Amino acid sequence: MMAEASAARAEEYLADVARQVEARLDQALPAESEDPATLHASMRYSTLGGGKRLRAALVLASCRALGGPPEAALAVACAVEMIHAYSLIHDDLPCMDNGQLRRGKPTNHRVFGDAVATLAGDALLTLAFEELASIPLGLGVTAQTVVQVVAEISRAAGSRGMVGGQVADLQAEGRDIDLERLRAIHRRKTGALILACVRSGALLACAGAAALKMMDEYGRHLGLAYQIVDDILDETGDQAVVGKGTHTDLLRGKATYPRLVGLEESRRLAREAVLAAQNALEPLGEDARPLLDLAAYVARRDR
Ligand code: IPE
Ligand code: IPE
Ligand code: MG
Ligand code: MG
Ligand code: MG
Repeated sequence: MMAEASAARAEEYLADVARQVEARLDQALPAESEDPATLHASMRYSTLGGGKRLRAALVLASCRALGGPPEAALAVACAVEMIHAYSLIHDDLPCMDNGQLRRGKPTNHRVFGDAVATLAGDALLTLAFEELASIPLGLGVTAQTVVQVVAEISRAAGSRGMVGGQVADLQAEGRDIDLERLRAIHRRKTGALILACVRSGALLACAGAAALKMMDEYGRHLGLAYQIVDDILDETGDQAVVGKGTHTDLLRGKATYPRLVGLEESRRLAREAVLAAQNALEPLGEDARPLLDLAAYVARRDR
């Protein structure tokens, strides 16, 4: 009988992942002194020193659950955090959500201006693929595995995944859409990259079809739960804890879970998705512990 999943244990796990990822990102990002200094300062500003590092943790934990090599997973984890940081910089731009606060600091464009912020995002996206090219081979990871991971992450980040979801999110502003439509937006804008993290970790561990299917199921439900909770926190969160502006979705007329189905039903749907994610991994037993804990954390997080 397995011990119950623990959000507190997940927070310890995330803190450990954050230390590893920060150290590697610090090495991978060009120094602030390197020309063009403003661009590099802007990239470092939004990539280092903050963030829950959930996506990195999902890569590392899914790879570990299936016995894959941690060094390869760390490279992928850092690449995904670069893509995520780019997506946040662009998401906060005045032409998108016009965010003022991110990870407890003024947003990138408020410090560096719209042009540099846009270009820092572009450069982070390309640096992520340079990072993927550095995945160490061996211990089951072949050049073909690396190509699979690159394909996985490209697809998830692009127009059929995150970027497409961001467009749909903007187009839905001020509109009445149904729950099915909203779920599809959330699956793309947030779920796709989260699913790619879980799948990439599994691919590095040479997962067979059955294991990949389990991970797919877990990643899909978790990605949806994550964005539902993000919507809830925009309404109910404490700005000082969340580290970004709250009550912004209502102001912008965003389509969100609380707006469509109310807070209580949103909480129920988030819990339901988290449980479905956890159930998918039941056959893995104790090896899935960090993934189960991370799912528990997603349901209970306050930031
Ligand atoms: C915020 O992501 C944007 C979403 C896709 C929900 P996170 O809540 O994971 O942001 P950080 O990385 O912890 O700052
Ligand atoms: C952002 O969704 C999704 C991506 C950045 C891809 P939100 O716009 O809800 O994220 P926050 O609330 O600003 O972090
Ligand atoms: Mg947005
Ligand atoms: Mg936003
Ligand atoms: Mg949000």
